[in-house]
Amino acid sequence: MSNLCHIAFIMDGNGRWAQRKGKKRSDGHRAGADTMQDIVNICFDKGIKHVTVYALSTENFIQRPKDEIDELLVLVRQHLKHSSKHFNRLLNKGIKVEFLGDLTVFDNEILDTIKKVRQDTLDCSNGQFNIALNYGSRDEIINAVNLCVDSNTKVTQESFNRYLYTKNIPDPDLIIRTGGDIRLSNFLLYQAAYSELYFSNTLWPDFSKKELDDIISNYSSRKRNFGSV
Ligand code: FPP
Repeated sequence: MSNLCHIAFIMDGNGRWAQRKGKKRSDGHRAGADTMQDIVNICFDKGIKHVTVYALSTENFIQRPKDEIDELLVLVRQHLKHSSKHFNRLLNKGIKVEFLGDLTVFDNEILDTIKKVRQDTLDCSNGQFNIALNYGSRDEIINAVNLCVDSNTKVTQESFNRYLYTKNIPDPDLIIRTGGDIRLSNFLLYQAAYSELYFSNTLWPDFSKKELDDIISNYSSRKRNFGSV
């Protein structure tokens, strides 16, 4: 079986899930966040060291109505506050929480949450939960190029990696996208060079442990040769 150290999720389909049930989009995101909690915990219970979720893209941030972004950020804060069940489960398991993306756009409320979560989980070393927030691969790559140029660093794969938001994080072994679309939508484009991809028609709030188990079993049967024969 191929080693599964890093699994990443594009959690698509919250809006359609809500629409089909005659609910508001924000209800879909709320249900999606509950599913995320369960799935992330199951991944860490399986011994997977890195779990990354695409919570908000740079394009979402610019193009979605402000109300929807605000509601999403409230959800992020709720799930990461000290009294939340999700955060406590992560803390008890010794999971570090990190954020990937351009965080400079956020207000102090969310920045304070991020700072506190980073501080509280700094010494945790059993696994890492990476939350991509206002994340876009094109931004990340251009930012890394500029940092290399500014520091007069010759660009090599090694030096370049150090300037990505994902520095110190291994490349994803498996990327799962729910919601039926077959694309990466500006998510981990550089890091996904040899990732195995899995696309599911399930809308994210309905994504289950059973489906995760089936996908991991499918992943385990794939031969990853990284360019060799
Ligand atoms: C895509 O569904 C989903 C998002 C843009 C948000 C995902 C965020 C969460 C599940 C919550 C994250 C919470 C924490 C604590 C990190 P969509 O709205 O694009 O669905 P649609 O394609 O059906 O409209």
